[in-house]
Amino acid sequence: MGPLSAPPCTEHIKWKGLLVTASLLNFWNLPTTAQVTIEAQPPKVSEGKDVLLLVHNLPQNLTGYIWYKGQIRDLYHYITSYVVDGQIIIYGPAYSGRETAYSNASLLIQNVTREDAGSYTLHIIKRGDGTRGVTGYFTFTLYLETPKPSISSSNLNPREAMETVILTCDPETPDTSYQWWMNGQSLPMTHRFQLSETNRTLFLFGVTKYTAGPYECEIRNSGSASRSDPVTLNLLHGPDLPRIHPSYTNYRSGDNLYLSCFANSNPPAQYSWTINGKFQQSGQNLFIPQITTKHSGLYVCSVRNSATGEESSTSLTVKVSASTRIGLLPLLNPT
Ligand SMILES: *[C@@H]1O[C@H](CO)[C@@H](O)[C@H](O)[C@H]1NC(C)=O
Ligand SMILES: *[C@@H]1O[C@H](CO)[C@@H](O)[C@H](O)[C@H]1NC(C)=O
Ligand SMILES: *[C@@H]1O[C@H](CO)[C@@H](O)[C@H](O)[C@H]1NC(C)=O
Ligand SMILES: *[C@@H]1O[C@H](CO)[C@@H](O)[C@H](O)[C@H]1NC(C)=O
Repeated sequence: MGPLSAPPCTEHIKWKGLLVTASLLNFWNLPTTAQVTIEAQPPKVSEGKDVLLLVHNLPQNLTGYIWYKGQIRDLYHYITSYVVDGQIIIYGPAYSGRETAYSNASLLIQNVTREDAGSYTLHIIKRGDGTRGVTGYFTFTLYLETPKPSISSSNLNPREAMETVILTCDPETPDTSYQWWMNGQSLPMTHRFQLSETNRTLFLFGVTKYTAGPYECEIRNSGSASRSDPVTLNLLHGPDLPRIHPSYTNYRSGDNLYLSCFANSNPPAQYSWTINGKFQQSGQNLFIPQITTKHSGLYVCSVRNSATGEESSTSLTVKVSASTRIGLLPLLNPT
């Protein structure tokens, strides 16, 4: 049905009982020249707030007007009407008790609910010649502001590749679509991601370094969209096999021994050193000044991640030779 077409006759009959003025029922399909526009104030309304559907350029000499919820102009969608003669306000089945009709055709909706979102039709009936009315239909769509969503997670600190993480975008809002972002990008195509039917819930099967990071979700309806604050999945992993630096093995008596150990781990690993099976110290760096031949042996760096419970170690065989210059001089000056 076009915006200016006349409703079927059945509607005409139903309304007859309801409406006071018979002239209001003359649905002559005539074009209207007035550029009637409808504007919501505010343009996007949040639940619980009030919104005024302002009608601009209302034609002169009106018989009255009718507001419908939706685009179907039948009795069930009839909210309210205003009859100019006598300034009569009539309420229909779609009237919720929160709508106020003004003589200038504007409609105030108080305490807006989700059900108030959607389209409205304003039917304007102008006085014509004699008993003929000139009618015009104007539709308008009211959008509700989408609430700012938030992400809830079954686990913010998953162990690498081991645990399934379920992220949910709250609140559940009808007539909205959900979208997810990872590291500011839309989700990559991988079997490790699975979305629920509505896209509101995101399943991550085994988080890896490629899928760890900040996640955001967005709630969108045709009028507005809002995105959540990021929630970061902090991957617990490691420790990897530690490395000892430097990797030289031959030292001379009197040298300073400085060894550093590092293993990739989140949270950072705890480090400890043993020499020939004997605990030497904890910490990442081992420093022994002026070593002697007694310091030869097997140096082991052990790492442990208390969050994952994983451990690893690596070793270096250090040889400390007794003489330094005496032994080397003949080699440097082979005369
Ligand atoms: C119509 O009346 C209401 C209530 O008095 C007012 O707030 C609104 O601004 C009026 N609309 C126009 C287009 O003047
Ligand atoms: C309103 O209608 C009356 C009678 O139908 C007519 O005399 C008058 O000129 C009209 N006024 C305007 C502003 O259209
Ligand atoms: C809107 O809500 C407030 C508070 O809940 C209530 O006091 C008021 O009566 C409501 N107004 C309408 C028109 O329903
Ligand atoms: C879910 O998201 C996919 C792409 O990410 C999209 O194609 C699909 O239409 C969405 N489903 C719903 C119900 O919004």
